[in-house]
Amino acid sequence: MTDIRILPRRAEEYLAQLLTLAQEIEAHDGHRALEDHRWIDLTGSAGEPTLGLLAIDAASRSVVGYLRLSSSRKGVEFELLVKPDFRRPIPAVAKMLLEAGLREVDPASRVSIWVPNPEASQELALVGAGFTPDREVVQLRMPLPASIPETAPNLQLRPFQVGKDEMEWLELNNRAFMWHPDQGDWDLATLEERETEPWFDPVGFLILETDGVMRGFCWTKVHEGSEPRMGEIYVIAVDPDLVGSGTGRGLLAAGLDHLANARGVTTAMLYVESSNVRARKLYDSFGFRADHLDRRYVRQGRDTSADNQ
Ligand SMILES: CC(C)(COP(=O)(O)OP(=O)(O)OC[C@H]1O[C@@H](n2cnc3c(N)ncnc32)[C@H](O)[C@@H]1OP(=O)(O)O)[C@@H](O)C(=O)NCCC(=O)NCCS
Repeated sequence: MTDIRILPRRAEEYLAQLLTLAQEIEAHDGHRALEDHRWIDLTGSAGEPTLGLLAIDAASRSVVGYLRLSSSRKGVEFELLVKPDFRRPIPAVAKMLLEAGLREVDPASRVSIWVPNPEASQELALVGAGFTPDREVVQLRMPLPASIPETAPNLQLRPFQVGKDEMEWLELNNRAFMWHPDQGDWDLATLEERETEPWFDPVGFLILETDGVMRGFCWTKVHEGSEPRMGEIYVIAVDPDLVGSGTGRGLLAAGLDHLANARGVTTAMLYVESSNVRARKLYDSFGFRADHLDRRYVRQGRDTSADNQ
């Protein structure tokens, strides 16, 4: 019998249990259960803590599931953790948490949730709660140092300059990712928020500039504390006017070289939309291989206008 309770704000008393749950999930699933900044807002040390719902197993009095809810201008985002033993054969914990989460949300809101390596039982719970799959992102990995393809040009790059490069970078990024659901509409606040992250390092944010104009970039991110030491090609893009000219190969080679030789990274990773054929071919030719797939599910907001008439 599983009993669901709402995590009180500043719920330090549950943090140790949540940490244990996340560690168990990471060991079982082989990927991170919650990003670092999400732990920070759980404790409320970075302002108002985020609402979370806990699934407590009445028999053992332990936390067996957690649903994190957060809001942005794009709608509500859920993040779901369920203890591996409580996922099958019936995804009761997932179902109860999703239903309890939806009760907290305005029915007109669009709700999205990313699920790493979705299992059939999780998909069942999500579909049952009205979610449908709408995006797939593949995490690719490769060992470093890489053997760089001979066709990669040796580009002269410079580090990103905080306080100077923001507007030009935003213009280039938004143009290169115009088609992308998350990356194509960054504003200054989004970029400045990343600049305050503990992992942000302008030296690993490599900029290609030709005749004083920014034409491409490879932004890297080191995952401190990861085992093996992991480094990410966080965002990479080429000016759309240069696409297909070999620039992407040169940028990727420089990013991997920085991660391996300047930061001692032994595993490179990145996320790519499964539909991004051009980028996937590029990564493939360097030796990146799929590690796992993350799928996003969305529940569209209900039109409540009729209810108010
Ligand atoms: C992905 C991107 C960085 C690649 O850079 P690029 O300069 O266009 O790529 P390159 O010219 O260096 O080509 C590298 C490889 O990409 C693939 N590629 C390039 N153009 C392609 C096309 N039109 N169709 C399919 N594959 C293509 C090929 O495999 C090519 O290698 P090859 O020429 O030996 O076959 C660039 O296209 C881009 O900025 N895209 C928009 C942003 C983006 O999607 N970023 C990646 C997010 S994960």
